[in-house]
Amino acid sequence: MRFLVTAGPTREFIDPARFISNPSSGKMGFALAEAALKKGQEVKLITGPTTLIEPEGVKCFRVISASDMYKEVMRELQWAEVVIMSAAVCDYRPSKIETKKIKKTKSPLKITLLSTKDILDEIGKKKERKYVVGFAAETDNLIENAREKMINKKLDMIIANRIGSENSGFETDMNNVAILLPTGVVEEIEGKSKKQIGEIIIERILENIGKDA
Ligand code: CTP
Repeated sequence: MRFLVTAGPTREFIDPARFISNPSSGKMGFALAEAALKKGQEVKLITGPTTLIEPEGVKCFRVISASDMYKEVMRELQWAEVVIMSAAVCDYRPSKIETKKIKKTKSPLKITLLSTKDILDEIGKKKERKYVVGFAAETDNLIENAREKMINKKLDMIIANRIGSENSGFETDMNNVAILLPTGVVEEIEGKSKKQIGEIIIERILENIGKDA
């Protein structure tokens, strides 16, 4: 099947020297892309800035901002049969990108932030027989908040990802997640590497697509 995977953070520039971002490394998204490839799937990966090496056999597209990611995902959407949004897309962007560096003499410096477009929400709502998987990065009420996102964004699966604790979430090689399905199934996976979790998620997606067919 044709898998479109997103990974990494986005950067929302304030001026040429500064941006807003998050600590996402791209490891989970890259692991998913590699796991899908290993299972014989066709894979395209759209990634924000990361230092990771592009997996051989995966077509990679590099983007910077949430708006770039939105455009690139929309361009490839028609092609995809499965979409996995594991990118940590910034929810906010400065209302204006200054072309000249803001001098530090300006204090307090006030920046107005506007919401970025929710890419996953748009994909979920316009879904044309695609299998759509989202992530939910949560510090509290992991399962409940993830379930709510799955329902609101009309997803086929959501991966609840615990952040803010050691050995899980941003930057680490290990991760603690739960795979949730709209049927109420919850599969908790703790203390495994992002590579192992990537393989389990791809297996579950393929099993579930099989069920729907
Ligand atoms: N997402 C997206 N576009 C955005 C923000 C998020 O497509 N502008 C996607 C992420 O890739 C992820 C899912 O939405 O798959 C959930 O992201 P998350 O940050 O956990 O939740 P939000 O919906 O942004 O809500 P909140 O930050 O309030 O928890």
